[in-house]
Amino acid sequence: MTQPKPDLSVKPEVTAFFDAQSNTISYVVKDPASPACAVIDPVMEFDAAAGRLTHDGSNKIIAFIQEHGLTTEWIIETHVHADHLSGAPYLQDRIGGRIGIGEHVITVQETFGKIFNEGTEFERDGSQFDRLFTDNDTYQVGQMACFALHTPGHTPACMVHVMGDAVFAGDTLFMPDGGSARADFPGGDAGQLYDSIQRILSLPDEMRLFICHDYGPNGRAIAWETTIGDERAANIHVGAGKSRDEFIRFRTERDAELAMPALILPSLQVNMRGGDVPADEDGNPTLKIPLNKL
Ligand SMILES: [Fe+2]
Repeated sequence: MTQPKPDLSVKPEVTAFFDAQSNTISYVVKDPASPACAVIDPVMEFDAAAGRLTHDGSNKIIAFIQEHGLTTEWIIETHVHADHLSGAPYLQDRIGGRIGIGEHVITVQETFGKIFNEGTEFERDGSQFDRLFTDNDTYQVGQMACFALHTPGHTPACMVHVMGDAVFAGDTLFMPDGGSARADFPGGDAGQLYDSIQRILSLPDEMRLFICHDYGPNGRAIAWETTIGDERAANIHVGAGKSRDEFIRFRTERDAELAMPALILPSLQVNMRGGDVPADEDGNPTLKIPLNKL
């Protein structure tokens, strides 16, 4: 399928929700022509020391959706996150919507099914999700035409979602002064990430771009919205025409110095199941910490 053309005359209302534990930004994206909305990358909080899950962020999203009389059509994961646990099933149980992720989630399930030594009851076919998006896949939020672009590099299953004039970058690009996401997780690839970013940067300059993480570099306030044009001009890792080779060299050196995200092991075993928490033989929610695997 060829890449669909974005319709810049459609301007969805985008509301951001910031999770301070993982510096994740979740979004509610409302179709301007109807009460339909999509939720992108909702978070479930995890206190690792206590082994306790909470849903403050998801509860805020639910309250917002109910207060505004919105209908949730989609709950979209831009990828299998390694830094926070997904709130998607908690939201779906309360406000509906179909949970969607990129079809290459099956690659992530293969890789981490081995790392977590999952048995055959863990299906590696993406069946935990309601929809597996393919490259250039189209879908609707109410009357708003949307599409998904496969953008591997950070992880094999990453997708960028385009809704009207808004682009949801997932973990490909950060804000211009934040650069790009790491590419050293299993299945990551710095060259692929560069190519994926170039594809995003070829979208029209005036499109709004919403990122999934911000760490407030150099003490600036947390931010999440920029434009394609600003990223192309000023992104510190790929802007102003930086070459593929320069990017690969820089990204590889930088990634070698980064510690693993604090919640990578809890996050992956939940998120590769569509956000469902695994259970022990008696049905108690339980996580594994495999040693010396990452
Ligand atoms: Fe990520």
